[in-house]
Amino acid sequence: MSKLKNIFTCSFCGFQSPKWLGKCPDCDQWNTFYEELQKAPAKRTQFEFDTDPRQGPVSLHSINTAHDDRIPAGIGELDRVLGGGLVRGAVILIGGDPGIGKSTLVLQALTSLAGRGIKALYVSGEESLRQLRMRAERLGSLPENLFILTETSLETIIEHIREFRPEILVIDSVQTIYTGELESAPGSVSQLRETSARIISLAKQSETATFLVGHVTKEGAIAGPRVLEHMVDTVLYFEGDRGHSYRILRAVKNRFGSTDEIGVFEMGSAGLMEVTSPSELFISERPEDAPGSTVVPSIEGTRPILVEVQALTAPTPLAMPRRTAIGIDQNRTSVLVAVLEKKLGMTLFNQDIFLNVAGGIRLNEPGVDLGIITSIVSSKLEKPMPGKTVVCGEVGLTGEVRAISQIAPRIKEAERLGFSQCILPEKNLKGLHGSSKMKLVGVQSVQEAIENLFKN
Ligand code: TYD
Ligand code: MG
Repeated sequence: MSKLKNIFTCSFCGFQSPKWLGKCPDCDQWNTFYEELQKAPAKRTQFEFDTDPRQGPVSLHSINTAHDDRIPAGIGELDRVLGGGLVRGAVILIGGDPGIGKSTLVLQALTSLAGRGIKALYVSGEESLRQLRMRAERLGSLPENLFILTETSLETIIEHIREFRPEILVIDSVQTIYTGELESAPGSVSQLRETSARIISLAKQSETATFLVGHVTKEGAIAGPRVLEHMVDTVLYFEGDRGHSYRILRAVKNRFGSTDEIGVFEMGSAGLMEVTSPSELFISERPEDAPGSTVVPSIEGTRPILVEVQALTAPTPLAMPRRTAIGIDQNRTSVLVAVLEKKLGMTLFNQDIFLNVAGGIRLNEPGVDLGIITSIVSSKLEKPMPGKTVVCGEVGLTGEVRAISQIAPRIKEAERLGFSQCILPEKNLKGLHGSSKMKLVGVQSVQEAIENLFKN
């Protein structure tokens, strides 16, 4: 007899504890612990598929990869994030807030794949056949090779998959699928782990590329997709502001590609459209001649994207002035503000500082440091940046401006969008002579950059 015991599990990240906790020590979320009855996992003797994976060690050299080429999903921005397309047997988790467009994205991908003759199966535990058909009609294509199954029982789903043998599989969403083998409710951490583990092993054995769709949840007893991150090959998060129409698809883990790549989409009346030139989107609403705004050529993955960094400094009555940053790391902000205070003698202790990256994009690379600084200074001095100017460079603690990577594509992108001047690290100037029509101004320190930009 397996022994039953109670365990408390964080529904956000899956952390387990023998007693209830108010705050998860692992992911710092509050009030996410739920009690579950834990049963010792049943011994699995039966394999989901008829191929027996219990083979002995094989020589790496002898493994055949001839048919392992990627299957492009047919949506450029999705393929970019995946690293060039779908890999057979790979499991991709797509997480995101409810209503962000996950089902739309996977349905579009499946429609495109099925349109090219690839046998695709969409398992929905959330929507009815009619609803799915209506959505597909809205997206404008109804290929014959796309099959739909509305089912939530794992055992039934596996039976259908075994019989049907799709090349591409979608489970939307994993939180609705349950197995009768566990007593806990559908959506609980143990259900999510068990059902996903079985779908993943099925995908590996049958070499089916599989998308798992998961809603990000913060409350309730429904476990979130974070719980699955370590089990799958690729983790993509779909982000965006519901008030805006654009969406960003970001890879946070990818066994078959880079994790820096982002895909940009716009939600329209006929589904998600690719945004192939995101720079134009992100700087399109930039106010000209307003203090506190700098355009920065940032590198996202392999592609340069121009983004607008906005800053607002305002006198504060608070003893602890506010430092709020959206889209920029909070610690990075504190460091840069300290550099400004110490190296430029700027008085900021009595100022609230708000930073925002327009368009809801998150900047993680150090090449944007100098742009953050120029925005803050521009707001504090109430002086706009000179027109048609972009700024890039990493800033060190002594106020020096350090060289950054991939300078040439950044400059090229800025030039393409009509900018005429670039402030960049002095060290990066080497080898750039004559490569651009833009005026390139090399600077060695923050001081030099500020003097150059705001001298009059
Ligand atoms: P959906 O893919 O259902 O989100 P998720 O699966 O992540 O919960 O997207 C739902 C939203 O997208 C909904 O608010 C309607 C909107 N939408 C459009 O604006 N245009 C479209 O063509 C489609 C299909 C959806
Ligand atoms: Mg959905």
